[in-house]
Amino acid sequence: MIVVREKKEIRQNVDRWKKQGLKVGFVPTMGFFHKGHLSLMKKSLKMSDRTVVSIFVNPTQFGPNEDFDKYPRDIERDIKLAEETGVHAVFIPTVKEMYSGNSKTWVTVEDLSKNLCGKSRPGHFKGVATVVAKLFNIVQPDVAIFGQKDFQQLCIIKQMVKDLDFPIQIVGAPIYREKDGLAMSSRNAYLTDEERHSATCLFKALKMAKDLIDRDEVERAKDLFSIIKSFIETFPFTKIDYIFIGDPESLEPVDELKKPLLIALAVYLGKTRLIDNILIN
Ligand code: PAF
Repeated sequence: MIVVREKKEIRQNVDRWKKQGLKVGFVPTMGFFHKGHLSLMKKSLKMSDRTVVSIFVNPTQFGPNEDFDKYPRDIERDIKLAEETGVHAVFIPTVKEMYSGNSKTWVTVEDLSKNLCGKSRPGHFKGVATVVAKLFNIVQPDVAIFGQKDFQQLCIIKQMVKDLDFPIQIVGAPIYREKDGLAMSSRNAYLTDEERHSATCLFKALKMAKDLIDRDEVERAKDLFSIIKSFIETFPFTKIDYIFIGDPESLEPVDELKKPLLIALAVYLGKTRLIDNILIN
C-alpha cells in the first residue's frame, strides 16, 4: 500500500492504474477508522481493481463551535488498518495541500441541504460537497462508496455527481452497527459509559417506529413524532436535535405515513451529537 500526501502523487498513481485498464474505487473518510469504514473499503475492493482511501478532517464542514479541533485522529493506526484490509493507496493531504489558502469556489446542492442536518449545521453540506468535489477531481475514481448512516450526505453527493456530470458511480453501503444496534461512528469515542448506554435509544426508537408503521398502528407523522420524542426522552443524557419523518428522495417532511419513508434522528448524548436513520420501504 502506498501512503501519499500530495495531490500530484495520487493523480499520477491513479493515471497509471487507469492506463493499465484498472477500475479505481474510492472511499473518502475523515479517519479514526471503525468497522463501518472497513466495510466501505471492502465494498470498494470488491467493486474495483484498486482502492484509494482518503483521510482528511475537512475544516470547511465544521461550524465555529463544532468539534474540528477535538475530532479523534490516529493516522498511524488508520494506515495499519487500511493496509490490513487490502487498500492500495491512502491519500492524507494537509489542509494547506487541499485548500492552499484562498479558495473562492464552493459547491452548494440546493433543497437537499436545507432539512435534517442542514438545518442544525448551517454550511456543513457546502463544506462536504466542496471537499468531495475536490477529492473526486484529484483522485478521479470510477466508483465511490459512502455510508448510509449519513443518508442526507449520500443524497447530496448523488445529486452533485448528476448535476455536475462527474463520471463516477456513487454507491451507498449499509449502516454498520454494534451488537446493541448503535450505529458505528468515530464520534462514539466521545461517549462516557453512561452516555454510551443511553445511545442505544436512537436505533431502538427507529426500530419501534418501523414496527408501528409496518403494523399500521400509526397514520400521521405528527403522532409518530410524539411517540419517538417521548421514547427518546426517557433515556438519561439525551437532548433531541431533530426527528425527521419524510420522503427519502426529496428529503421533505410528510404528514401522512406513506412508504417509502425515511426516519432520521440527531440526538445529543451529553455533548456528543449522534445521527442514525432507517429507510422504510
Ligand atoms: O462522511 C465523511 O466522513 C465526510 O463527510 C467526508 C465524506 C469524508 C467529507 O469530508
